[in-house]
Amino acid sequence: MKTQVNLQAYNSFGFHVMAKHFIEINDARELDRLFRTPEYKHEKHLVLSGGNNILFTNDFFDGIVIYMNNKGIKTVADDGEKVVVRVQAGEDWPEFVRKMVEKGLYGVENLAHIPGKVGAAPVQNIGAYGMELKDSFLKCEAVNLETGRKRTFDNKECVFGYRSSIFKGMLKGQYVITSVEFQLSKHGELRLDYGNIRSYLSEHGMDNPSLQQLHDAICAIRDAKLPDPKVTGNAGSFFKNPVIKAAQFEVLQQQYPDIPHYDEPDGKVKVPAGWLIEKAGWKGWHDEHVGVYEKQALVLVHFGNGKGEDIVYLAKQIQKSVEEKFGILISPEVNFV
Ligand code: EPU
Repeated sequence: MKTQVNLQAYNSFGFHVMAKHFIEINDARELDRLFRTPEYKHEKHLVLSGGNNILFTNDFFDGIVIYMNNKGIKTVADDGEKVVVRVQAGEDWPEFVRKMVEKGLYGVENLAHIPGKVGAAPVQNIGAYGMELKDSFLKCEAVNLETGRKRTFDNKECVFGYRSSIFKGMLKGQYVITSVEFQLSKHGELRLDYGNIRSYLSEHGMDNPSLQQLHDAICAIRDAKLPDPKVTGNAGSFFKNPVIKAAQFEVLQQQYPDIPHYDEPDGKVKVPAGWLIEKAGWKGWHDEHVGVYEKQALVLVHFGNGKGEDIVYLAKQIQKSVEEKFGILISPEVNFV
């Protein structure tokens, strides 16, 4: 275990945050040893994965940061059509997707290029371009941070929802995910209907794309719209897209006939927070340290030398003005620590 470690490279916002203690886990079995240390018994702890969906609101974490970096991708079942792949939590998510696509396995291709690690993906049920992690998630192994006991969670037990799961809800902070199993297929239908995927492909002469071509197109679309955290600090979408009642939506639509929206199965309507934030005048706003990304208003960015509290303040101002203009309270997708 190290002491006084700078977490700047471990949070995609790139904030300078010191951790009192820091331990890197390269094999899930090392957790047992950690649980027996005196530090673990006395200090609070935080499980850190890729740090791509986290906002440190203070510049000191007074406890133990457990950094999951265990590696390994293994095929555990193959019936000629369905393939089950077990992935250790510390594997890089976009790298895993790239490998599956190269093998010709369908099921995670639309989730290409989402920064982060595999172990964090179920926590917020990552999603993009009409696909969510829960669509191919079979089960995960997790360890109880209090008792040290292992437990398997199947798809149902994870209670997946839009950018949520039991690990973000009822069991928040109680488990560390050590590995995830996915059920993938050797054949599949590509999902091309979301947003501008089809138009992008056809502009590039790919009306009938292969699995690999779709993967590469999604990487290009994301690159064009979302800032690279290695260059500009950010945590992807900062807010969730709010889901509102049909009656409220109809009133909004009369005022703004061009408002983009997605109908939800329960009759409610999901409205893009990025659109609301842009209409409230925030897109491209910035001061010296933080701002609202100029190509996608849902992403808050850190240009350097700022603090987590600058983002907290900006987020609050955005929430307030969106609520004043549209009567909709948008809530953060990013986890605050
Ligand atoms: N829009 C604007 N202005 C903006 C941003 C968006 O008008 O500044 C409009 C777009 O024109 C479009 C609609 O809002 O009509 C939706 O935008 P987009 O397709 O970019 O997707 P999103 O709803 O803003 C969600 C996810 C992203 C995911 C994309 C693509 C959430 C919170 N975000 O964003 O996920 O990549 O769809 O599937 O659901 C993430 O979670 O970190 C993330 C990046």
